[in-house]
Amino acid sequence: MDTFYITTPIYYANSLPHLGHLYTTIVADAVHRYKMQRGFDVFFLTGTDEHGINIQRAAEKAGRSPREQVDLISNELKRLFADFSLDPKNGGYDIFMRTTEPFHYQGVQYLWSEIAKNKTPKDNDTIYKGFYEGWFCAPCAAFKLNDEYFLPEGSEIPRCLIHERDLDRVSEESWFFRLSDYDEFLLQTIENNPEILKPESRRNEVISFIKGGLQDLSISREKTSVSWGIPVPGDDDHVMYVWLDALSNYITALGYGNEREGAPGFEKYWPNTTHLVGKDILRFHTVYWFSFLNAAGLPLPKTVYAHGMWLDADGRKMGKTLGNVIEVDVLHKHFQTDAVRYFCLREMVFGQDGKFSYEALIERANADLASGLGNLLSRTVSMIHKYREGKLPAGKISEENYIHARRAGLDPDGGEIVSVLEHARDEFIRRFDNFEFSQALEDLWAVIARIDKMISDAKPWELVKDEKQAETLNAVLYRSAETLRWPADQVHESGLYKSAN
Ligand code: MSP
Repeated sequence: MDTFYITTPIYYANSLPHLGHLYTTIVADAVHRYKMQRGFDVFFLTGTDEHGINIQRAAEKAGRSPREQVDLISNELKRLFADFSLDPKNGGYDIFMRTTEPFHYQGVQYLWSEIAKNKTPKDNDTIYKGFYEGWFCAPCAAFKLNDEYFLPEGSEIPRCLIHERDLDRVSEESWFFRLSDYDEFLLQTIENNPEILKPESRRNEVISFIKGGLQDLSISREKTSVSWGIPVPGDDDHVMYVWLDALSNYITALGYGNEREGAPGFEKYWPNTTHLVGKDILRFHTVYWFSFLNAAGLPLPKTVYAHGMWLDADGRKMGKTLGNVIEVDVLHKHFQTDAVRYFCLREMVFGQDGKFSYEALIERANADLASGLGNLLSRTVSMIHKYREGKLPAGKISEENYIHARRAGLDPDGGEIVSVLEHARDEFIRRFDNFEFSQALEDLWAVIARIDKMISDAKPWELVKDEKQAETLNAVLYRSAETLRWPADQVHESGLYKSAN
């Protein structure tokens, strides 16, 4: 059986998640179910990123220990995911990864040692000790280059362009990763391998970042300034940079570098890995992650797919800083799970930004789910009850009745409807495999519209009055029911509609 490994980012355990976080897990969950239907052995990871200064500060502010803070948020997140049927009980994720798990500590420390053992592509030491002096943004968990911050008027402390918050001045001893030696490797990898970074539009952005020149990366903090982290092997005075710690979760979860019992297997799942990430963290998942993996002598993931951002009605990115977030609990209280899940896949073109509004969510739920799919289902079921005592009849029309069927606007041998459906199925699969979820659903809903039209043209309420049209009516009911079964259950099925005749 072919394997397929899908991951979401692991979410910071500093505060409660919002729609932006729920979104990626909903998308990953849909891909997970789809790939299972297609016969893959799938492993699906989501979880929480639990170390670093930002979490340490959030805990202090709330009067909790960091451990209490991360336990609280990860439990809340699990509860919210369960509310949206994303948990294992509902066929959702296989692992909720937490970077405070002891097996993760073991795995990351092993990874660090592996990296340290090797040379860079330009034959230098991969890791070296130095001194870091610069500006650090706690919410980004990133050191900021000159063009990534600004100086507000009358202040001496610069602010991050993304979060518009004061940066921290860092001036301390640090371990460095020699990222500057990986530019050629990265360019070659990304330019020669269109699968590895998607969508196409994001590739150039990453390529030009690399071409702009890579600086070595500080990958540790002194324990006296950040205590909540994983110790650097052989240097207890330092904890690891939180992105190195966090990115490694994708492999430690599979069992890399640790002895976790029941681990699903790095060799088994890693070769066909897809990371889904927001475009704001693409650089970490390509430039940094690809280099760390290469430095450790490990193969790269197959695809990193960057999605767009949910914006508010005014077009501003939804986030805690602006205070314009849609809270997951609120969504759950007022909307059905399936409406939110459908909306996430249908409304946002995967890869592009999308605006959120309650009006759009209500409109989608009403138009597509209630009036479209729901109405067709209830119409079909009630006609089967009313006209055929609740039993779905066979759909075959005998040749002597072809003429009557044609009169009711029905294609007698079903050939036309089968080709519409098979075309929709092929398009659906093509689109879904390509992460074009919104367009895949559009194809499916075109089928619903087609069947609605078949019913309106045939007018079953008139067919029932005419004995000669008994088979035509049967065919209308059969085709309608069978079409509904298909998207609900077996989109990938190949013998579609064959039993109709
Ligand atoms: N902890 C890191 C990820 C480490 S992965 C090894 C992190 N966490 S986060 O909680 O800040 O963000 C997680 C994800 O949520 C990111 O992919 C980010 O793009 C996504 N989103 C945050 N706000 C969002 C929107 N408004 N819209 C869509 N996704 C958004 O980064």
